[in-house]
Amino acid sequence: MITFDHVSKIYDGNVTAVKDVNFTVEKGDIVVLLGPSGCGKTTLLRMVNRLESITKGTIRINDKSTMDLDAIELRRNIGYVIQSNGLFPNMTIEDNVMIVPDLLGWDKQKKRKRYNELMDLIGLDGEEYRKRYPLELSGGQQQRIGVVRALAADPPVMLMDEPFGALDPIIREKIQDEFLQIQKEVQKTILFVSHDIDEAVRMADKIVLMKDGEIMQFDKPSELLTHPSNAFVSQFFGKDRALKSLSLHTVQELKDNIGLVHFDEAILDTKTIKVNQDLRNTLSMLLNQEADQVIVESMEGEKLGAVTIDLVQQYLHYEIKGMASGSTVEKG
Ligand SMILES: Nc1ncnc2c1ncn2[C@@H]1O[C@H](COP(=O)(O)OP(=O)(O)OP(=O)(O)O)[C@@H](O)[C@H]1O
Ligand SMILES: [Mg+2]
Repeated sequence: MITFDHVSKIYDGNVTAVKDVNFTVEKGDIVVLLGPSGCGKTTLLRMVNRLESITKGTIRINDKSTMDLDAIELRRNIGYVIQSNGLFPNMTIEDNVMIVPDLLGWDKQKKRKRYNELMDLIGLDGEEYRKRYPLELSGGQQQRIGVVRALAADPPVMLMDEPFGALDPIIREKIQDEFLQIQKEVQKTILFVSHDIDEAVRMADKIVLMKDGEIMQFDKPSELLTHPSNAFVSQFFGKDRALKSLSLHTVQELKDNIGLVHFDEAILDTKTIKVNQDLRNTLSMLLNQEADQVIVESMEGEKLGAVTIDLVQQYLHYEIKGMASGSTVEKG
């Protein structure tokens, strides 16, 4: 658990970068710091592991003020992923990943075992990459290595500053999913900086939306999207915020609340999706194919019905306005 208690940062006596910030990252949660360039995200992150001093207020990790801990010790217990991965170009992949375990004095066998485990986690062959250098990897692979390096000594807390920032959208989504999958297993307490709304909505248990060093809203993504607390928040998410909220909901929820239609056997080449898919993916699938429906399958592969653009729109209406408007639709 990380607690920010009336935290402020003033640089050089006059630049107020962070202003009276209060929030808590619960154990095992991902909190995303979101906001325009210069709003104080990186400053806030770097105060946690004392790479920046705190001008006013207190940051606590599990109820202990960071100021009462030894700074070096503190940093060893906090995984830190900086933007553009920060791998050392003249060190091999294995040595990069094992920097912190090395500092902690782990023996060779323990390090090798951990290295292989971590590489497995991100779907890379440990043997194959052991002696390679960062520049011999693709951008996406380098960012994965940056993430597992921060996980290496199994720190309970992770600070991640735009860890996927350098990736193109498709690879980025893949790595986000991969990371969420890993997080399900490792259950770290994570503070994650992003300026990308889609990424924030996807990754966050809660979002801290900041402007000029102040918190505008701290809540679940769905709350920021559906109940913005002020004009800045609603403008930040933009007119298509309803569409963005689709990525928070699954076909299963649409089926439960509105129902599916019967699928038309006559339409050949109709694509299928699983009920656990999110509605944003579903909508883009619908928009990218000729047929006006996509068949919905249970996780076991049983055909449950079909989803149409109209149904997704009805769900949006239902979700955003809180009005159940699906009563005219045939249940599938
Ligand atoms: N070392 C410093 N000395 C003085 N001012 C600084 C320093 N570092 C950051 N600032 C200022 O503090 C404010 C917050 O900067 P910060 O880097 O935390 O923003 P950010 O939200 O991470 O932005 P970005 O999205 O561009 O990374 C900015 O106005 C910046 O110019
Ligand atoms: Mg920054």
